[in-house]
Amino acid sequence: MTSSNWTIDNIPDQSGRIIIITGANSGIGFEAAKVLAAKSAEVILAVRNQEKGDLAKTRIIKNYPEAKVQVMLLDLADLKSVQAFCTAFVTKYKKLDILINNAGIMIPPYGKTVDGFESQFGTNHLGHFALTAQLFDLLKDTSDSRIVNLSSTAHKMGNPNFEDLNWEKRKYVAWKAYGDSKIANLYFTYALTEIIKNADLEITVTAAHPGYAATELQKSLWLKILNVLMAQSGSMGALPTLMAAIDPDAKSGNFYGPSGFAQQRGYPKEVLSNKLSYDAEIASRLWAVSEEMTGVKFQP
Ligand SMILES: NC(=O)c1ccc[n+]([C@@H]2O[C@H](COP(=O)([O-])OP(=O)(O)OC[C@H]3O[C@@H](n4cnc5c(N)ncnc54)[C@H](OP(=O)(O)O)[C@@H]3O)[C@@H](O)[C@H]2O)c1
Repeated sequence: MTSSNWTIDNIPDQSGRIIIITGANSGIGFEAAKVLAAKSAEVILAVRNQEKGDLAKTRIIKNYPEAKVQVMLLDLADLKSVQAFCTAFVTKYKKLDILINNAGIMIPPYGKTVDGFESQFGTNHLGHFALTAQLFDLLKDTSDSRIVNLSSTAHKMGNPNFEDLNWEKRKYVAWKAYGDSKIANLYFTYALTEIIKNADLEITVTAAHPGYAATELQKSLWLKILNVLMAQSGSMGALPTLMAAIDPDAKSGNFYGPSGFAQQRGYPKEVLSNKLSYDAEIASRLWAVSEEMTGVKFQP
């Protein structure tokens, strides 16, 4: 069930639950981590920079001294780092209740990940694809586990060009590449929904987007000015993520976003993505290509 005024008060006690949030040192990920730690979950801040992770942990503990917060290193732009994170995690933890694939970069200059993927597609989509695949056994073994993938209304600009996913044959258009990575997050969610249904698994996979929230994502001066004029807060922006992670009525394939004008602000509700994002053929093609590019396979 969705509601127009779903808030953190709707989140029950999370004692005993283990939650990974990627990119949890700032923005939406940090706000979600703070709330879930305050609700007594053990929250793993999966971050690429130890110092920033430690600082985020300190900020949470300062407000909630009892909070169980761990920092673990994960660079989604490096498949070896993803693998090392997963190995360390499964060694330390015997279950995983919620995986929140939140980390992201937006419109950087053209660049490549360590493995040679265009940086937005590589970080936002392929890194999370590889991460989820390698944590999938643990998610299967945990009752009522959940995966949340962060997308964006920018998915409407996306339509991945399978002939040139790494933008080597065309002039790079940063916003288009961001849109491609954000529709990829939805294709991943919807394809995984089918796999979970077909294998009759107990995992729920959902997607969320924060609308327009002032975070560290907006790097340029003009975007920072727009933030002051138009954006909602990071804590409001984190509500769709939290609803996608917690709503007891959530079903696999559900997508959550703000309920206000053009889904840019407001309290969260279930929303729909665009028509192209529900194209099962594209989703399954992207799935196959993602397995090939990352060398990682899901075992349902
Ligand atoms: N804010 C919005 O209005 C908005 C709108 C639509 C969708 N989103 C989505 O929301 C998610 C969170 O973004 P945000 O707004 O909270 O931005 P943010 O404040 O910039 O947070 C992004 C986080 O991702 C981390 N990250 C980036 N590259 C990484 C990598 N290679 N490995 C591991 N972590 C990495 C960043 O770490 P560092 O601090 O080390 O860079 C940071 O912690 C993203 O998926 C974004 O696409 C945001």
